[in-house]
Amino acid sequence: MNVPVVLTSTYGATGELEYGRFGNPTWSAFEEALGELEGGRALAFASGMAAVTTILDLVGNGGSVIAPRHAYNGSLTALADAESRGRLRATLVDTTDTEAVIAALQADEDCALLWLESPTNPALEVADIPALTAAAHELGIRVVVDNTFATPLLQQPLSLGADIVVHSATKYIAGHSDVLMGAIVVADDEVHGALKGRRDLAGAVPGPFETWLALRGLRTLPVRLERAAANAADLARRLADHPAVEEVRYPGFGAIVAPVLSGGADAADFLVRATSLWVHTTSLGGVESTFERRRRWKLEPATIPEGLVRLSVGIEDVEDLWADLEQALDRISA
Ligand SMILES: Cc1ncc(COP(=O)(O)O)c(C=O)c1O
Repeated sequence: MNVPVVLTSTYGATGELEYGRFGNPTWSAFEEALGELEGGRALAFASGMAAVTTILDLVGNGGSVIAPRHAYNGSLTALADAESRGRLRATLVDTTDTEAVIAALQADEDCALLWLESPTNPALEVADIPALTAAAHELGIRVVVDNTFATPLLQQPLSLGADIVVHSATKYIAGHSDVLMGAIVVADDEVHGALKGRRDLAGAVPGPFETWLALRGLRTLPVRLERAAANAADLARRLADHPAVEEVRYPGFGAIVAPVLSGGADAADFLVRATSLWVHTTSLGGVESTFERRRRWKLEPATIPEGLVRLSVGIEDVEDLWADLEQALDRISA
């Protein structure tokens, strides 16, 4: 039933595999499964950021990347870091404004890569992937979609025209807050080869046990996501009616909901300390419900509201989740 955890750093010199940094049967099993879900060829990485930075390595020196102003702050930091070293140029845009993004692509002669994250972390903005991909391809620009929030069950960017999909497999794919892993999925064999070459060189490879756990997580992704997304839809509705909540960011699918509290940072800081079932922590996509005020991170873009709390809705009983949130919100608005 199960692919074993193949613990080896090297292989007999006569076989197909040679050295542990270049390949592993447990990775291959994970890559086949994820590749099938996304409709392409997958590569497993040590973390989401290992995957993100490996993709950025494909941009030639002096090339330019257009990216969302509200993407995951690690991805934005990687872009800023590369820019500060003169490696590339980054332009940040509002990816919900399709026309503005197309204008930015057309205005930038050096643009090599359009980076999309849809929905974005933590603003939950959704990009028009087919329209943006079509415009980028007319200009010979590659398109990457960070599909971490949607998962391959709710969105398959390659089928919408994108060239590269990236995941923090740490989140929904592994699903139990016990693994750090990343993945890239591509349609094109040449791009696959280039990314694998970068992975081999950087050694940005996952451990076989982590990969096995992520593969196990993948098996229950549909039932976990179905339950978490139903809980999220329910909580989004209830939050919108609460007087302590100014606005609810929720794209209408997935299991992340981001209420913005009218009391700003103080109210949000109170909320994350006043519950017993919700766990105050960063990260997301596990079976347990977790939350945090995103602006507590210095690197978070200043355009993210101070009172935004990113909820990663888990698979607990929704009445328990709401009761815990409601008693804290009631104390804020009292
Ligand atoms: C959308 C998104 N992409 C990439 C990453 C980076 O993944 P990792 O933490 O596995 O390196 C994260 C992490 O939070 C994320 O939320």
